[in-house]
Amino acid sequence: MMDFKNLISHCKEYGFIFPSSEIYDGLSAVYDYGPNGVELKNNIKSYWWKSMVQMHKNIVGIDAAIFMHPKTWKASGHVDAFNDPLVDNKDSKKRYRADQLIEGYAEKIEAKINKDIEKARTRFGDAFDEAQFRATNERIIERQKEIDAVLNRLADAMKTGNMDDLKAQIEEYEIVCPESGSRNWTEVRQFNLMFNTQLGNIAGEEGKLYLRPETAQGIFVNFLNVQKSTRQKVPFGIAQIGKAFRNEIVARQFIFRMREFEQMEMQFFIQPGTEMQWYEYWKETRLQWHKALGTDSSKLRFHDHNNLAHYANAAVDIEFEFPFGFKELEGIHSRTDFDLSQHQELSGKKIQYFDPELNESYVPYVVETSIGCDRMFLAMISNALQEENVPDADGQDSVRTVMKLHPAIAPVKVAVLPLLKNKEELTSAATALYDQLKVHFNCQYDEKDAIGRRYRRQDAIGTPYCITIDFETLENNTVTVRDRDSLEQVRLKIDEVKNFFQDKVSIESLLV
Ligand code: GAP
Repeated sequence: MMDFKNLISHCKEYGFIFPSSEIYDGLSAVYDYGPNGVELKNNIKSYWWKSMVQMHKNIVGIDAAIFMHPKTWKASGHVDAFNDPLVDNKDSKKRYRADQLIEGYAEKIEAKINKDIEKARTRFGDAFDEAQFRATNERIIERQKEIDAVLNRLADAMKTGNMDDLKAQIEEYEIVCPESGSRNWTEVRQFNLMFNTQLGNIAGEEGKLYLRPETAQGIFVNFLNVQKSTRQKVPFGIAQIGKAFRNEIVARQFIFRMREFEQMEMQFFIQPGTEMQWYEYWKETRLQWHKALGTDSSKLRFHDHNNLAHYANAAVDIEFEFPFGFKELEGIHSRTDFDLSQHQELSGKKIQYFDPELNESYVPYVVETSIGCDRMFLAMISNALQEENVPDADGQDSVRTVMKLHPAIAPVKVAVLPLLKNKEELTSAATALYDQLKVHFNCQYDEKDAIGRRYRRQDAIGTPYCITIDFETLENNTVTVRDRDSLEQVRLKIDEVKNFFQDKVSIESLLV
């Protein structure tokens, strides 16, 4: 895995991600996607949409507006409960999330445990049994107990909204500000994460609008519209991809935590009482979706929530091993009938489903799957980007930077390269092939620099195949196709090229 700093500069250098409004020194935690970035992001969205909507008879899509009636957010609980605990350091004037400071304290203890384990591993070699060592080593047992106590107390304080206890914990654990090194903290207070703005023709509180902090509510308020217009029967789902906005207190780690981001969410409406069975179903289905992209199983894991959101009766994260450790990539939440019931109450409109099999009406329960598109992008880039030793044109060892993305999501599928730039026969044959392939795949034509350098440029953006047009092409209509990962080159007839790629680079190849 590439070092995180290098990954960020690679993303900029190769047109994946730029800081927003960079000429004005950027805007904190807001980013723009460049030419290769937008292709990769669109491919991720397309894979999600096709596998969730097209592959399920009982899931349909919508595209709801970002602005919604302000009562939506009262009903959903976001006005009252979508808060993070905020604390300022009076010396550095930096803001922190109190819960993250406390989690950081627990992570430091964890790091000590890991250090002891690594030492023991070196000492005992192959005979080392980590599970046994964890279960019997006194120091590790004590440290693990300490971590559990810290996290349980944190979960309790978060659940009950006990800001005083969060402050007490920061003091007891003697947590210092990473910037100033001081323990001069303000009180901890709740901070609502929703951005707001004003509707043009209404003044004051009445006209206060929120930028949606999740796409899910656009689905809930449209439940009856969609169910009636599509005549779907429970169980059925509604899917949506769209922007969401959160005024995150601490937004670091590149596109992992942004203030403007994109979500891909699906709400699955079910009969009350069947939620645990559907919860298990969607947990497995979503994990398989990730694995189909070739992500190693060791980099994905489930993490059950200790601290349930106000709407959930069960929740799990699919975590991915980012360069900064295992973190949430996707959430699967059993949301009960919380949202639909709340909207029913606040709108005064009946939101119920008549179940013809049970011959009764009820407010459906919901299991949702929710994944951040940008986080998925970061997971894919960090999984794929690597430096490796390969032989150069003279057979000498050289280092190449290569992005081993699954071909179906790679921004460019095929690069067409005439061997020489100043041989008209070669460039016109290459242009003709490029024109033929561009209708089917996102292709690039590149004639600048030596062929080795052009291969390296394509490796760096993850192009799975490079086609070279050389003098033999002019004689027998064949081309060489170079495979990004194996570096093998095969000779193919020009008219076989399209079919050769078709199955390998299409999103459909992931769906079967
Ligand atoms: N509707 C449920 C919901 O919004 P969430 O766990 O708050 O649940 C779902 O968010 C997903 O959205 C997360 O797993 C993450 O991938 C993504 N996400 C949340 N906040 C984000 C942020 N500030 N920047 C980027 N992605 C974010």
